Amino acid sequence: MSARRVCYFVFTATVLVLIGTKVVHWMPHPSNYVVNIPVQDNSCSTAPTKQAELMSPEEIVQYLHWTNSTSCQLAVDFGFDVAVWGGMAAPDGQKAVCLDQVIAPVYGKCLVYSFGIKNLWSFDEDMAQFGCQVYSFDPSMGVDDHNRTERIHFFNLGLAGKDEVNAQGWNMKTASSIYRMLSDRHGATKLIDVFKIDIEFYEWEVILQMLKSGFLAEKVLQFAVEIHFHAEDPLEIFQRRVRILQDLESTYPLSYSNDIGGFVRFSSRPNSGLKRPLTILGGKEGYIGFEVAWYNSRFYNSNGSHSKDRVFPYYK
Ligand SMILES: *[C@@H]1O[C@H](CO)[C@@H](O)[C@H](O)[C@H]1NC(C)=O
Ligand SMILES: *[C@@H]1O[C@H](CO)[C@@H](O)[C@H](O)[C@H]1NC(C)=O
Ligand SMILES: *[C@@H]1O[C@H](CO)[C@@H](O)[C@H](O)[C@H]1NC(C)=O
Repeated sequence: MSARRVCYFVFTATVLVLIGTKVVHWMPHPSNYVVNIPVQDNSCSTAPTKQAELMSPEEIVQYLHWTNSTSCQLAVDFGFDVAVWGGMAAPDGQKAVCLDQVIAPVYGKCLVYSFGIKNLWSFDEDMAQFGCQVYSFDPSMGVDDHNRTERIHFFNLGLAGKDEVNAQGWNMKTASSIYRMLSDRHGATKLIDVFKIDIEFYEWEVILQMLKSGFLAEKVLQFAVEIHFHAEDPLEIFQRRVRILQDLESTYPLSYSNDIGGFVRFSSRPNSGLKRPLTILGGKEGYIGFEVAWYNSRFYNSNGSHSKDRVFPYYK
């Protein structure tokens, strides 16, 4: 088979598995429930390499859809839930986690930070079931700090580019401040296996702050983010945001650090509920939300102290 055919096969198989695992339940009501899985096979196109500032609208779109399909052998969704509104259904709550042995969370030892819950706990619960301690944060729910379960710990706090009380009166902190606050709980040198954020546009200042402070490089193994745009954003805004992602993925030292970005994208999928006519495409439809996941190449295949733990019982 040619590379393209192999890719097409993998893509089709993935969609079929997704349909097979969750959608079968609704077969009695086929006319009421339609799963809007965006069928757009961009998984095999070559990596867009042009720098963000020079990208055309079409190149921006291609960049956002692109993913390195060979970088993770076993990318699995945690927290898959089905949202149903008005006779329509869509996947919701899931984040891809790479379970390749060298980077997978280890049962009973893993640590997860999860920002943006909105009363949908499916991701947090799946990670807890995988044996992780999960710290969950959402200042928009109006709920006080509490332990939801033995492994899920909720904080009435938000993630931002600086420590502040924001215009809505929410208590916001940087990743470094939150980590310091919790270091008595999980240890001051513990790596974060999965750092998940779904925080409605705050992600842009947060990713930049986490890159500049070195927090991503030093502390985070896997990074799963819902990224957002507005349908009417001008090209410059798209380019500025793609620049942040290119910095995250860079293999060259960044202008504001001596280090590279060093994160490898292994999953990028549009949010099927966020398809809109885009101003940059002259009103043609495109997505304004994507679920993107990366791992930290410093730890993938590393010989560091971290990797000696990474053996699944079922690999023995
Ligand atoms: C994709 O991932 C593979 C495996 O990690 C790596 O060797 C390759 O360089 C990556 N390709 C791009 C374009 O990032
Ligand atoms: C949650 O449990 C931890 C111990 O695991 C404890 O230190 C903490 O005070 C508890 N938090 C709340 C809000 O009860
Ligand atoms: C990892 O360590 C082993 C021995 O501890 C060594 O033989 C091997 O070359 C190292 N691999 C890398 C990629 O550094």
